[in-house]
Amino acid sequence: MDYIKLFAPATVANVSCGFDSLGFAIDGIGDEMTFTKTPNKGAVISNITGADLTYDVDQNAAGAVVKKMLEDANADFGIELTMHKGFYPGSGLGSSAASAAGAAFGANQLLGDIYSKLELTKFAMYGEEVACGSAIADNVSAAIYGGFVLVRSYEPLEIVKLPAPSELRIVAIHPQIEIKTKDAREVLPKEILLKDAITQWANVGGLISGLYTDNYNLISNSLVDIVVEPHRKKLIPFFDDVKNAAINAGALGAGISGSGPTIFAICKGDDAAKEVFDAIELSYRDKFVDFEMFTSKIDEEGIKILHSF
Ligand code: HSE
Repeated sequence: MDYIKLFAPATVANVSCGFDSLGFAIDGIGDEMTFTKTPNKGAVISNITGADLTYDVDQNAAGAVVKKMLEDANADFGIELTMHKGFYPGSGLGSSAASAAGAAFGANQLLGDIYSKLELTKFAMYGEEVACGSAIADNVSAAIYGGFVLVRSYEPLEIVKLPAPSELRIVAIHPQIEIKTKDAREVLPKEILLKDAITQWANVGGLISGLYTDNYNLISNSLVDIVVEPHRKKLIPFFDDVKNAAINAGALGAGISGSGPTIFAICKGDDAAKEVFDAIELSYRDKFVDFEMFTSKIDEEGIKILHSF
């Protein structure tokens, strides 16, 4: 293969109770990226649209991943890449993760498909480290594997793909402020109480059980975060108003998408999603903060090839 154009989805990390260990991919929202083999070795970024990101391959999540993979594979060619960002960096929807995961997938195709999904996740985690200072796996693994994922272990890395009930719908609101993941990690406590840990890990177990058994009540009861959300919600204007509006309108749960500021709600079915969308929109209309909203499904496939030759 000499050329590939692909779509790398946006992702929701944490999913309330699963900080750094749960994530899912969002259908229809993401980045388009192209990768072209070049005779000159190394990685070059030739075009970025949709966001103001660096062209420096050592600083750019996608560029850094491609460069590292070419070196790791000892490739006798280079790769020129382009990126069209379909959503905003700093939104909490895994922008750097889409770039890093897309880069790992695209470079692997041009290298002859020599790496496993787990290895691609490790390369993409390096991109996350370049972009936000931490090699986090929840967003990148969701983009690479598609659907719901559990990062069961970081050392050694183990990713478990989870089922997602077919009626799950996502409603999200993106208040137009930017929160850097690094900053949102700095507000978190270094230690938590055992009683809080018990609540949190019981909710992770409940959520995963609910996903396997299509038990929407159990999913709803488990979408609770008492560890991270209380600290991070202070960074998001009117978080409680949105969450209450979503729950009162029938959402199974609502929380911070990744490190925010996007707030996601999970609903059962299209009708509930519409009610929740309208309720959230109404709750934000008079708040003097610009916002964007969308409704979507879980993207079961993950990164998609759009064109190649
Ligand atoms: N799990 C990470 C965090 C995701 O919440 O900091 C970052 O997008």
